[in-house]
Amino acid sequence: MTVAVAIDHLQKSYGATQAVKDVSFEVEQGKIFGLLGPNGAGKTTTIRCLCTLAKPDAGKVEVCGISALAQPKIVRQRLGYVAQEVAIDKILTGRELLNLQAALYHLPKKFIGQRVDQLLEALGLSDYADQKTGTYSGGLRKRLDLAAGLLHQPDVLVLDEPTVGLDIESRVVVWDFLRQLRAAGTTVLITSHYLEEVDALADSLAIIDQGKVIANGTPNELKDQVGGDRITLRIQEFTSDADVSKAKEIIDGLEFVENVIVNSSQGNSLNLVVGRQGNHLSTIEQTIQNAGLPIFSLSQSRPSLDDVYLAATGQTLMDADLAAAATRDLKKEKKLQMK
Ligand SMILES: Nc1ncnc2c1ncn2[C@@H]1O[C@H](COP(=O)(O)OP(=O)(O)O)[C@@H](O)[C@H]1O
Ligand SMILES: [Mg+2]
Repeated sequence: MTVAVAIDHLQKSYGATQAVKDVSFEVEQGKIFGLLGPNGAGKTTTIRCLCTLAKPDAGKVEVCGISALAQPKIVRQRLGYVAQEVAIDKILTGRELLNLQAALYHLPKKFIGQRVDQLLEALGLSDYADQKTGTYSGGLRKRLDLAAGLLHQPDVLVLDEPTVGLDIESRVVVWDFLRQLRAAGTTVLITSHYLEEVDALADSLAIIDQGKVIANGTPNELKDQVGGDRITLRIQEFTSDADVSKAKEIIDGLEFVENVIVNSSQGNSLNLVVGRQGNHLSTIEQTIQNAGLPIFSLSQSRPSLDDVYLAATGQTLMDADLAAAATRDLKKEKKLQMK
């Protein structure tokens, strides 16, 4: 395997905040790698260190064997970076913006027109190229950001939350384009807090939580590591806490159940881990109905990446995101009170 990106024991703090405590992973050349984690996990900080936009406190960061700390200029030539949100000048047309970017990259003048046309075409932007970017939808702007990150033909394209806020259609366009890039040999690194996105796209991934890597491997490896199948059970109506505890106690008593967690973000569903053998659904249905609790839904599936996250942290990604949002709101409130 040829390593395109190697990050080893990376650390980065902002004042008292340890944004990245200990992050290590390697990205194989020509593959799509996902860095998955809830808001505030340290994803953006990690890739800002990779793209030489932030200086690590400790650790190794290499792109194609070149140290980002020792030779930032060379690393920047090898990398394309698409930030989560880009403030683009709304007065310029898409084509003008790309021409300007190309000049900032010092691309040879002869080559610029052709390269810009090629990218506009590849990203389905030709029809919009001469409209002001202020008129673009979120999906079109994201495609333009992608084009801008690719102008200098980087070996490695790094995208921070590439489809956040995009509609499904634009999301699929972006995913397809990233797969095409991979087919053409480009290494792609994305961050995401959407597990479906990483599951759909990534050849391998690292899950990051509170500044640390908690799991690393291919999606299938990680799912197999967490073992048995998943069953999700919901009791009808808006379940009272007493009903939830009662159901949990009954389920806990079943022999084939390895683990039960109450998932409060999804209407107090119960998430169970069970062995793969046996017809568990009908046993659970019987047991719960006998206890006089009406079932709303009951389903069984293979483990997901969320189960991997859950197994490592004790909460789901969605709950972690909600908790992060609540902390941010609290901080905002405090700031407002202080004013
Ligand atoms: N420039 C900064 N100054 C202070 N704190 C920061 C800065 N950037 C990030 N942080 C903090 O570091 C932590 C990780 O943030 P970030 O890397 O943006 O996470 P993610 O991209 O996974 O959401 C968060 O607690 C965030 O508030
Ligand atoms: Mg981020």
